[in-house]
Amino acid sequence: MSAPTESDVLQIENVPAESSSPSGGVVSVWTINRPEKLNALNSEVNSALKSACEWAESDDSVRVIVITGAGPNVPPEGKRQKPNSFVAGADISEFEGKSSVEIRPIFDDNPWEYIWNLSKPTIAMIDGFALGGGSEIALSCDLRLATPRSKFGTPEINLGLIPGGGGTQRLCRLLGYGRAMEMVMSGEMIGGEEAHRIGLINHLVEEDELRDKTMGIAQNLASKSPHTIRVAKAAVRAALEQPFSAGILSERDMFCALFDTEDMEIGVKAFLNRAVSYTHLRAHETLRYLVCRLVGEKK
Ligand code: COA
Repeated sequence: MSAPTESDVLQIENVPAESSSPSGGVVSVWTINRPEKLNALNSEVNSALKSACEWAESDDSVRVIVITGAGPNVPPEGKRQKPNSFVAGADISEFEGKSSVEIRPIFDDNPWEYIWNLSKPTIAMIDGFALGGGSEIALSCDLRLATPRSKFGTPEINLGLIPGGGGTQRLCRLLGYGRAMEMVMSGEMIGGEEAHRIGLINHLVEEDELRDKTMGIAQNLASKSPHTIRVAKAAVRAALEQPFSAGILSERDMFCALFDTEDMEIGVKAFLNRAVSYTHLRAHETLRYLVCRLVGEKK
């Protein structure tokens, strides 16, 4: 599948993976770009996000996905600058006048599930409002980094609604029943520090360090075996989907299956030989494999 076509509302920057991985690969940084509307998710953004997910899943070069929101534009003379925002929710102007029958297809085929269902690692890089559908984009990612000035909340209750992008379920699982219930019923916002304290975000990072810290984590994940990291993600996810004893069995199945992979062979060899790193050895082994194939030798 080819890369999604350039879209104004979703900018895609593919940053080369720094590791010496032979297959190269990229960290794909997606910027939701509607700063005048605090990056609210209208149908154009939703469809761009879904296409980007389909592309990222099918393209082996994509190792890690980072999702963020565009910063505010410089305001026209005499106007106030819009606040920083990750995503301030679904675009409320698209709700007006819609019935349940009209809204249903939009929420049956929604970007939150596309992001959630990616088998590759996903990171939300948050500086500003992460509200409603925006908090749900963050919750659909595997990791969340945010600045102290970020604000999280599920204000749908104030619109006569509830979260519709998986917020009630994912908040419950991430924060526990009590905190999820309070956020959903009160609609109140919490700041970055509180979000960090309760485990809503993984890292609290100052504005000027956010990108470097996020990209550092992304590059680290990109340096791992892509297959093993997918299995790791699936194994942790199993804890959400299955009863405990079934999850333990799933983990064991996945763990044992990894013993038949070249990645495990290389990783263990790297450790035992006190070789530099998995990625280094992986590059070396792949080169050796390719040379052997070229000269027709058995690996
Ligand atoms: N949908 C559509 N437009 C939105 C939006 C949303 N979810 N959130 C913000 N905007 C728009 C505003 O309408 C405004 O547009 P305008 O300048 O053309 O009038 C622009 O973004 C800036 O927002 P504004 O409200 O002026 O900024 P603020 O600093 O006064 O307030 C918020 C910021 C986030 C508190 C406020 O915009 C807000 O409450 N947004 C809605 C949040 C929400 O309920 N999300 C859940 C939706 S399901």
